[in-house]
Amino acid sequence: MSTNQPYLTFHDGNRAPQLGFGTWQLKPEETVSATQAAVEAGYRSIDTAYIYHNETEVGQAIAQCGVPRSELFVATKVWNNRHGHDSTKSAFQESLDRMQLDYVDLYLIHWPVPKQKQYLQAWEALIQLRDEGRAKSIGVCNFQISHLQQLLDGTGVMPAVNQIELHPHFQQSELRAYHKARGIQTEAWSPLGRGQMLLDPVILELAHAHQCTAAQITLRWHIQMGHMVIPKSAHAARIRENFGLWNLHLTDAEMSRIATLDDPSGRIGPDPDTFSLMGD
Ligand SMILES: NC(=O)c1ccc[n+]([C@@H]2O[C@H](COP(=O)([O-])OP(=O)(O)OC[C@H]3O[C@@H](n4cnc5c(N)ncnc54)[C@H](OP(=O)(O)O)[C@@H]3O)[C@@H](O)[C@H]2O)c1
Repeated sequence: MSTNQPYLTFHDGNRAPQLGFGTWQLKPEETVSATQAAVEAGYRSIDTAYIYHNETEVGQAIAQCGVPRSELFVATKVWNNRHGHDSTKSAFQESLDRMQLDYVDLYLIHWPVPKQKQYLQAWEALIQLRDEGRAKSIGVCNFQISHLQQLLDGTGVMPAVNQIELHPHFQQSELRAYHKARGIQTEAWSPLGRGQMLLDPVILELAHAHQCTAAQITLRWHIQMGHMVIPKSAHAARIRENFGLWNLHLTDAEMSRIATLDDPSGRIGPDPDTFSLMGD
């Protein structure tokens, strides 16, 4: 089992594996085996969330996988209906209890829900959790520049990470430039465009040229862009395939070709400025 993989260092000094395992849409009954397959393949970073309804099973996989907790990087997220100081702190404890952990490596606000006007209070709760040592690093997901600026103006504390929809068809260059200027690590969700990238003719041509798969080309692009990246699969063979890209290298010309695939209207998921789902 190879664990020779790149790590990235956050502005708070903590480190995370660059390539992690996503668990959204893993059913509870497939989560333990898929997460264990990921750890066996070499993944050391696991991304879950309250709303995925699989934190309990992710915790079981962590307990059973045979790798010490200290070598794993575990991230989870507070859902939209738990923004607010006390509510966010109790949601965090509930997540820890479900996973049977006493800390997470990264705790994230899942969506800003701007119309609720509570994300600043949630962020203040995350700062306390970090100060208590129960969340080693804290960050957000789906925050636009204006939302990040509100956190900075309100608390002076920038997230270590912003986990955003990001793939070759939706490259978010303005937001990534803002992250870079402020030391926020960009993390890509739906890095394969939920499979859409695997049908792109340019990606397929590059896969043919490198004798690898379209998923590997896409994930290698993320790695060379410097993103943290968390592909999800329920299948052990694909889980291994997605981790098998360390000998692949895209040239500058190939990276430039993928850059041309950007489509500012290529978003697949919800718009963070308006998304406000509360139910679970
Ligand atoms: N913060 C947020 O708001 C947010 C939102 C969405 C996602 N996320 C996180 O990001 C993770 C990844 O995003 P995602 O699950 O939306 O999409 P994704 O990783 O881009 O794509 C997952 C899809 O691609 C398929 N797939 C994976 N590897 C493959 C391969 N090698 N060959 C062919 N098909 C492959 C999977 O199918 P099978 O499972 O059938 O293999 C699944 O249908 C999530 O699991 C979650 O942890 C966060």
